[in-house]
Amino acid sequence: MSDWLTTVRQHHEGTYQHCLLVTDIAVDFGLSLGLGTFDLERLHSAAMFHDIGKARIPLAILDKPGRLEAEERALIETHPSAGWEALKENRNISLEILDAVRHRHEYLDGSGYPDGLGAESISDVVRILTISDIFAALIEQRNYKPSMPREQAYEIIQSMHGKLEVPLVAAFREVALNR
Ligand SMILES: [Fe+2]
Ligand SMILES: [Fe+2]
Repeated sequence: MSDWLTTVRQHHEGTYQHCLLVTDIAVDFGLSLGLGTFDLERLHSAAMFHDIGKARIPLAILDKPGRLEAEERALIETHPSAGWEALKENRNISLEILDAVRHRHEYLDGSGYPDGLGAESISDVVRILTISDIFAALIEQRNYKPSMPREQAYEIIQSMHGKLEVPLVAAFREVALNR
């Protein structure tokens, strides 16, 4: 499975660095929530692998500054299922981790992709990972964008009404602003 991380890294260093940052934030968040070792390990692996499907997305799209065309956006949106496909035959990857890789871009109000899941089908690991991932993407610096201050990134997360679990967003404040 670390082969896949190597593949992602060789394809796009920025995505690999993003996975490290998301893992850092997600584990911090998990610790602050008092998760046990088993859940923390699951969250750690889910965060490391969550964007593995980006190994299949052309660099011109991953690094494109500004708005994506509709076809480009459609292609980007294949990365969760591509990651799930890549990992699903691997017996070392648990179903919970596979679920997290596939469903990180789902939202509680059903507006996400690829399966348009609703709140009842979105696990706690996914909910924690999703908040951590959005925050990481906002605060990290990319070729095409500067990093955003943590306060501002947290405000954006707070403003995503209906999409994220409200008590989790409140609990995330401490991780977002004080770590
Ligand atoms: Fe993603
Ligand atoms: Fe991500």
